[in-house]
Amino acid sequence: MASPKPVSLLFVWVFVHTWASYMTNSPTLIVMIGLPARGKTYMAKKLTRYLNWIGVPTKVFNLGVYRREAVQSYKSYDFFRHDNKEAMKIRKQCALVALEDVKAYVTEECGQIAVFDATNTTRERRDLILNFAKENAYKVFFVESVCDDPEVIAANILEVKASSPDYPERNREYVMDDFLKRIECYKVTYQPLDPDNYDQDLSFIKVINVGQRFLVNRVRDYIQSKIVYYLMNIHVQPRTIYLCRHGESDFNLVGKIGGDSGLSPRGKQFAQALKKFIAEQEIVDLKVWTSQLKRTIQTAEFLGVPYEQWKILNELDAGVCEEMTYEEIEIQYPDEFALRDQEKYLYRYPGGESLQDPGQTEEPQNSFIVPNCAQYMPCLTSPCLVSDELPYLKCPLHTIFKLTPVAYGCKVETITLNVEAVNTHRDKPSGSTAPSSVHLCYCC
Ligand code: SIN
Repeated sequence: MASPKPVSLLFVWVFVHTWASYMTNSPTLIVMIGLPARGKTYMAKKLTRYLNWIGVPTKVFNLGVYRREAVQSYKSYDFFRHDNKEAMKIRKQCALVALEDVKAYVTEECGQIAVFDATNTTRERRDLILNFAKENAYKVFFVESVCDDPEVIAANILEVKASSPDYPERNREYVMDDFLKRIECYKVTYQPLDPDNYDQDLSFIKVINVGQRFLVNRVRDYIQSKIVYYLMNIHVQPRTIYLCRHGESDFNLVGKIGGDSGLSPRGKQFAQALKKFIAEQEIVDLKVWTSQLKRTIQTAEFLGVPYEQWKILNELDAGVCEEMTYEEIEIQYPDEFALRDQEKYLYRYPGGESLQDPGQTEEPQNSFIVPNCAQYMPCLTSPCLVSDELPYLKCPLHTIFKLTPVAYGCKVETITLNVEAVNTHRDKPSGSTAPSSVHLCYCC
């Protein structure tokens, strides 16, 4: 029999290659696009956190980080001029190194999605990325942030100024001036995505003026539709979120988990202190969310403001172990008790839930949240932490966590309202490999 002609082999290879890039489980490269100070890094981080939260391993590759490694000290906007040949060479080299790291992440760390967080403002750069993706059979989804609202841009620059490693201890005028000039450098060569001609076959979302409008083009699979859904529902402009648990409950006093008991006298005292605290914060457009359980509703009732009840914020359902103390569980269900100690994040109580379960639903996005459970709080404050560490973070009663997103991370402040409460924390049992207590993640 005659051997197949090379041309047929080539056809088969091209077919398999193209087909592979549309399989739902082939990796996706999310490519950010936009001028500086358009909220790309903020969106990239938030999206990454969300994708990990729903169980898709995702990592951000920020080109600024690579550039800062290559050029140790940032001098001025001059580096970003398109006619600065030497700098252009370095910038391209940084992009190539970052893409190689993307490849390593996918092949060696089983990453599913890589977010390439850079300006990517030219077609030349985007074509380079598309070629790289094609060679590796990755799907590509672009996220372009377009913003011409001067107020938003100014706020973003101030934000970047406050937290960018490019501007340590520089005076305000200098930074503003330098950053505006940096943006002008990019404007000279900026080619926005063109949905009608050049880029009509690409998959992308254009986020216009921080979510005032969206343009969505050729969404090709489930994960891309999740990305679109998420980006259309987040607040692209950072806002502060306050988290706290309910006031101390009657069950807390006797060490029982679950159930639906009301507040103890100290719990009520805390709710009163919380009302005062919220008033002092002068929060504009305050929204309060609680679980559907008595103790959080009673806490919110004290505040005297409207609140919404969310089932997702209910305490973890402990199934057959509901309303029992840990000591009782250890005696009545020793195997379950030991299993939970081995893998607290994934463990699911018989007839109940695991800590991972709420990640399958959407993440709340608002002002003041009173969830039920010490165990869910870390999922809200630090969803980027690995599952070993997450269940053992300390989230005491009568303590408020104030989360303020900043361009290069998330600032977490802990506020104690000085109303005593029982300690409901259970340390990781000795003999385990993960640390027994980890501080809250300050940059997730
Ligand atoms: C940077 O070097 O800070 C970003 C580079 C880029 O994305 O253009």
